[in-house]
Amino acid sequence: MMRGAPPARNVDEVEALKREAGIAACSFVSSGMRLGLGTGSTVRYTILEIGRRIAEEALEVIGVPTSEATRHLAEGLGIPLLSLEEAGELDLTIDGADEFDPDFQLIKGGGGALTREKRVAASSRAMVVVADDSKQVPVLGGFDLPLEVGTDDWERVRDELDTICPGPVSLRRGIYRLEDMKLPLEPYPYLTDNGGYILDCEFGPTIFEPDQLEQLILSVEGVVEVGLFVGMCDAVVMATPSEVLTMVKQGGRLD
Ligand code: A5P
Repeated sequence: MMRGAPPARNVDEVEALKREAGIAACSFVSSGMRLGLGTGSTVRYTILEIGRRIAEEALEVIGVPTSEATRHLAEGLGIPLLSLEEAGELDLTIDGADEFDPDFQLIKGGGGALTREKRVAASSRAMVVVADDSKQVPVLGGFDLPLEVGTDDWERVRDELDTICPGPVSLRRGIYRLEDMKLPLEPYPYLTDNGGYILDCEFGPTIFEPDQLEQLILSVEGVVEVGLFVGMCDAVVMATPSEVLTMVKQGGRLD
């Protein structure tokens, strides 16, 4: 996937930044909260820290996972969980992002969980994003925009998206069922937790009006969800090599 000019860092350095951001975001968490638990390698550290605080500091929270991977992680840490339907309105969602722009607009879905992530964020009174500084961009789109689509008519949806997206639109692949593997070995389409496919759309850094693009893409029949999160994120906790910055959106729900 394409990403705009990442800083030259080794894997350990990036991992350390993810950890710092993920843990720092826990300053927003307090007992009694119902929390949306995001998906990905950065928010993983937030979830680990919440688990530690439950075990060692008697923190009392209930989590709503945005993916099966997060559900497994949280269950293993002893974090009490509910489904979104059971929990109703949430106090806060903490999640990662693939990109965020100066207006706190996001591209998400690099991990394929965008549909549940968006439903959970939309049911929350506030959303905090955790990220290292490679995710901060002036304009969205350097990271290929993910869409979830149904498995039956994805080719028609892809053809329609081809008329909207300036670059290639690709079906995400990834082996998911051992029993389906045939020779020659070819990765099967990546399957989401909802049983859908993902199309990755190479817009390049051209998404100046993400709200309009979101509506346009959602109007295409067969699109389940698009990984543009507009007006949802209220703060970003971003780790840089020298400090962890908490940027709160002016006029947002945490201002
Ligand atoms: C999951 O579907 C995504 O939206 C992730 O939140 C996003 O890709 C960020 O993940 P990382 O923290 O692993 O970069």
